[in-house]
Amino acid sequence: LKIGILDVPFEKGQDKSGVAKGPQKLREAGLIDKLNECCGSLDIKDYGEFSYKNNCKDAQVSNMKHYDDVISCSKELSDKVEEIVRDDRICLTLGGDHSIGIGTIHGHIKARNDENIAVLWVDAHADLNTNQTSTSGNAHGMPMAFLAKELASFWPSRPGAEWFTPRLSVRNLAYIGLRSVDPYENAIMHNLGISYFDMFDIQRYGIDAVVSAALDKMDPHHNKAIHVSFDIDSLDPLEAPSTGTPVRGGLLLREGIHIMSAVYKTGRLGAMDMVEVNPMIGSESDVDKTLSAAIHIIIAAFGRNKREIKADMQHILP
Ligand code: ARG
Ligand code: MN
Ligand code: MN
Ligand code: MN
Repeated sequence: LKIGILDVPFEKGQDKSGVAKGPQKLREAGLIDKLNECCGSLDIKDYGEFSYKNNCKDAQVSNMKHYDDVISCSKELSDKVEEIVRDDRICLTLGGDHSIGIGTIHGHIKARNDENIAVLWVDAHADLNTNQTSTSGNAHGMPMAFLAKELASFWPSRPGAEWFTPRLSVRNLAYIGLRSVDPYENAIMHNLGISYFDMFDIQRYGIDAVVSAALDKMDPHHNKAIHVSFDIDSLDPLEAPSTGTPVRGGLLLREGIHIMSAVYKTGRLGAMDMVEVNPMIGSESDVDKTLSAAIHIIIAAFGRNKREIKADMQHILP
């Protein structure tokens, strides 16, 4: 497998400082070594730390904080992710807050000529607010609304974003893990018939059935590249406490791992974001737990090899 890793220490899509330290801490916790140890022969290219220049400083829209930074970052990030995917690498982006999904998904779509990607959004939240519906004004609650073709008319003007066209159809989107959806987000989801699998579905049908259903819905012919945008707050705060907007009653780590193993098995993973890990929230042990959970989920996405464990068990298996 060919992978490209990119750090995106962006945190202006929300109010809590620390989430920009996510990428560095994931690396210090041994992410790259673990990928190499656990996933067989990977060809990893390290694209290092992404940075951007704010080149639309005066641009703003109402009720979207740091709009200028979000737009400038998204533009350059989109080009970077496009480059990595065109290099034939699965692009692993380490965030940063979830507003970086605007840039990563836009770039991935550009690299594959529009129709050829489907997005699996694993999150406690739908991140489907527009600036008009958001009660926080935080851009990390808006990336899906920004990207969706079907919601383009809700953004009458996007100053500074002339380079941007919303290219993702919500037909090629599925959510897993939802449990904190705002009233307007809920209305949009139902009006547009967006596919989602919330905690109720996971409890009722089990994670294995839920991932297959999500993969079917977002890509019925199973021929698109998959973009997974994994918000660590999809996990239960007991498993991943160090994040800015935790919501109780979430996924177990083993369910998060199962999602990514199932995506790996499709052979169609094209890009993955790991976002909202905030190493400045919680105790040292909270942070260690969260980093280790994120790493487990990432190595599952790249085919963590379980053969060695099975080999060890040969003598007790029938
Ligand atoms: N729905 C809330 C908002 O719009 C929370 C969003 C949380 N998003 C996230 N990426 N953690 O502000
Ligand atoms: Mn700003
Ligand atoms: Mn979230
Ligand atoms: Mn999110």
